Amino acid sequence: MKIDILTLFPEMFESPLRFSLLKKAQEKGLIQINVTCLRDFTKDKHKTADDSPFGGGSGMVMKAEPLVAAMAQVTGHKSKVILMTPSGRKLDQEIAKRLSKEKHLIIICGHYEGVDQRVRDKYVDEEISIGDYVLTGGELPSLVLIDAVCRLIPGVVKEKDSLVNDSFYNGLLDYPSYTRPEEFEGDIIPEVLKSGNHKEIDRWRRRESLRKTLFIRPDLLSSADISKEDKKMLEEIILE
Ligand code: ADE
Repeated sequence: MKIDILTLFPEMFESPLRFSLLKKAQEKGLIQINVTCLRDFTKDKHKTADDSPFGGGSGMVMKAEPLVAAMAQVTGHKSKVILMTPSGRKLDQEIAKRLSKEKHLIIICGHYEGVDQRVRDKYVDEEISIGDYVLTGGELPSLVLIDAVCRLIPGVVKEKDSLVNDSFYNGLLDYPSYTRPEEFEGDIIPEVLKSGNHKEIDRWRRRESLRKTLFIRPDLLSSADISKEDKKMLEEIILE
């Protein structure tokens, strides 16, 4: 997958893209990420990429010309243009899964009061928010989106299992995990995890996933895949 980021602040991407999985995925050639500075596509000597809104009001609006010129340079055959904005659709695992199948994403990092509506209408395929709060710009949100999408591209995360067990992947929050030592500050790990009985371990994990989801995100239960046995476990958990 190729990802082009269009931003007024390219420096904000220098370090986050150089570490961990995103770094490895780029080294392996699984993803290619380019950062383009929108100011390079302005024509005046002050490199003006934003201007005051028609009709008055506070804040500045990102101008159409630099955005469209930058897009023209990076757009290919199968590009999908995404605008990061708090007024977009809220990012979730389903959106990340869908976008992980695209060949080329162009991500516009919105700033100030927003982006000229004509660009949104004509060039943007999808507007995405990372949550119901307002950040200073679309740079951090775009990194969140890229991270969520890239780890779903085959080969980026090594063990298939670690994706399958993700919170949200199967509609539930994940179960608690423990590693050595067995005892830490007087707390010991659940006995069943040492039993070697994988059926029992799976059952325990499912139960703990259900418990966590019930208490922390009960809204997820209505759309999760809940079996008869799950229902029984949930009833038991409620009675406990
Ligand atoms: N820009 C500012 N806040 C944002 C948010 N919550 N999601 C996406 N882009 C943003």
